[in-house]
Amino acid sequence: MAEVSAQVAVGPEQPKTYDGPPDYRVVGRHGVFPEVSHDEIARFNFLAHMNRHLATNVMPGIKDAFDARVEPAFRRKKERGFRDRHEVRKALLKDPMFQWWSALRRSTMEQRQQAGRWVTLRQADALNARVAALTDGDPRLKLDPTLELPRYVDAVDHHCMPGSYHTELTPGDATGAANYDIGLFATTGGMLGRFNDGGGIAVARWVKRNFPDFRPARILDIGCGLGHNVLPIAEAYPDAEVIAVDVGAPMLRYGLARARTMGVDNVTFVQGDVSKLAEFEDEGFDWIQSTMFLHETSYKSMQAIFRETRRLLRPGGIVLHVEQPQYTDEMPLFEQAMRDWDAFYNNEPFWTKMHEIDLDEFMEKAGFEKTSMIHGGVAAVVDPAVFPEAAKDQSQEDYGRKAAWHVIGARKGDGREAAA
Ligand SMILES: C[S@@+](CC[C@H](N)C(=O)[O-])C[C@H]1O[C@@H](n2cnc3c(N)ncnc32)[C@H](O)[C@@H]1O
Repeated sequence: MAEVSAQVAVGPEQPKTYDGPPDYRVVGRHGVFPEVSHDEIARFNFLAHMNRHLATNVMPGIKDAFDARVEPAFRRKKERGFRDRHEVRKALLKDPMFQWWSALRRSTMEQRQQAGRWVTLRQADALNARVAALTDGDPRLKLDPTLELPRYVDAVDHHCMPGSYHTELTPGDATGAANYDIGLFATTGGMLGRFNDGGGIAVARWVKRNFPDFRPARILDIGCGLGHNVLPIAEAYPDAEVIAVDVGAPMLRYGLARARTMGVDNVTFVQGDVSKLAEFEDEGFDWIQSTMFLHETSYKSMQAIFRETRRLLRPGGIVLHVEQPQYTDEMPLFEQAMRDWDAFYNNEPFWTKMHEIDLDEFMEKAGFEKTSMIHGGVAAVVDPAVFPEAAKDQSQEDYGRKAAWHVIGARKGDGREAAA
């Protein structure tokens, strides 16, 4: 449970406090959480600390190298400054400081995936049996073995995760989802909370604060994964019927089993492609939510998804997307290039395009009125007793991994908006 805090020196002039992530043993254990041994916990702790060290202590050195070497060299050679983030990234690639940080970050991610995979594969039979016992015959799990995965999904092992979200190693497999669940704490240094649900808790509170009279009867969560962030929403609105849709069967199986052991019983997990949800009738939902989802969708499918959200919302209903901030002209090109790291070196190919588009314009093209747009921001809500650092300070930047997000959305009007 130790909060590690030590003085470390970053160059001669820059003493800095290192606030380490919490111990992995604080991770919330639900009823299908895999068994993790002493050594496996030690491995996750090492990876969480490595990620925090790279973000806190190593990363500032890249900015120093950029200012001192990379930018001046580019200017000398081209006799002009950088035009866009891609020029910055290509110039950074040649610098040893960036190379060092980037290689360590990539290998930390690969190690995290292998660490989680090992934990889940060594107990696959028992884990899958536990999940089956909790989900077999439960009408709240609706799988579609005939579903055709979108090409943009099955072509990519997202963030170096072998088999991504959908691969089933055996019939009824849930190990990929379990791997995602147990390793997220290490990747984020615990910033999402004990159950990795700090984003969902924040969204539920944000909606209650901003729409105090809103009483959603039906909520749709698109790209729900294993339900980390939809469960807090379902708990905040216990009388609502919540439908959580994802393409990945392992996520949904594990998601329902996890929800049941956590006592959340108003979520139905449905396998489907959210760019074409023909099984759901028009105007059937009061609230459509996506959390950290858009950056994993292709440019083309995102447009179809936005149109589907409008079709599925009842007049007066709201759609909300929670994402890392868009790149804007005000955001320095260096920061944009660093945020783009995941797109080029962490198998997140859609990240870069998604963050440069004008989401308001996309929403308008899908038929939402300009005047109905919703903008806001949320930061992960975590237990301050366990995460004192996260609770007091959200300022630590990790160029795309910070546990604070933008909210972009719209309230559907009465049908007189521009046609899609
Ligand atoms: C980063 S995860 C987001 C997880 C979740 N929203 C959360 O907050 O924990 C993205 C999820 O989107 C799913 N996904 C991607 N494209 C999809 C699509 N077209 N239809 C349904 N799910 C999709 C993936 O399978 C994956 O589980």
